[in-house]
Amino acid sequence: MTETLDYIRQRTEDKTPSIGMILGSGLNEFADNCIQDAITIPYSDIPGFPQSTAPGHKGNLIMGSTEGKSVVCMQGRFHKYEGYGMKEVTATIRLMADLGIDTFIVTNASGGINPAFNAGDLMLITDHVNNIGDNPLIGPMEPGTVRFPDMSIAYDLDLREKAEAAATNAGVKLHKGVYLANPGPSFETPAEIRAYASLGIDTVGMSTVPEVIYARSRGIRVLGISLISNKAAGLSGQLLTEEEVFEAANAAKDSISGLMQEILKTI
Ligand code: HPA
Repeated sequence: MTETLDYIRQRTEDKTPSIGMILGSGLNEFADNCIQDAITIPYSDIPGFPQSTAPGHKGNLIMGSTEGKSVVCMQGRFHKYEGYGMKEVTATIRLMADLGIDTFIVTNASGGINPAFNAGDLMLITDHVNNIGDNPLIGPMEPGTVRFPDMSIAYDLDLREKAEAAATNAGVKLHKGVYLANPGPSFETPAEIRAYASLGIDTVGMSTVPEVIYARSRGIRVLGISLISNKAAGLSGQLLTEEEVFEAANAAKDSISGLMQEILKTI
């Protein structure tokens, strides 16, 4: 990873961001419009870095500032369903941690299981369930990580409070709930969704959990926001498509950008 880190340091004149963000499916807009003095580096330029193959994931690192804070944004992430191992899946957060961030804002698109959630709604992630069947910390310990990180409060309480206040200020409705990550890439069956509902799960997706586990192992505080792109399988009477995910993200881009900016003012 030294080669990767050295390259980014040199391309960004040793900038030291304090906040790192991963922008998931269709959520790239924020970084395109809201980052000042942006330095954009395509993942394909970064030595030792995986490539985004997932649709709707641009594959750029953007360094700059917003609301007076120094930020690094990852437009696009890596998923297990692309065939990547957990090391590659966490390459984004690993690099941001090496760059020195202390705060990690993670976003994703997910299917709403909670009947109160509709396509286009946003949810503050309060907790997660790892159903990916893997963990990025398996293997020899990396310097700076904790062997058995506590996950009791994986999503920072203070950041959650600030995000809720920011949502009120931005006039954006923000649900709260538990996110479950599956490996994908098939969507869930209605029976699986009924099972998750009975366990108290609110949304389901195919990402985020590995990055959050890694961030916690480095002591980085985490804020998670999920865009409900569709009602989960069997709940809407409609079949699920990947286009629906992008349409919902596109429709919600203003509320997401507004919320993000308001959050960045206060954290
Ligand atoms: N299931 C899993 N992942 C998803 C969904 C879903 O319904 N929507 C967006 N990502």
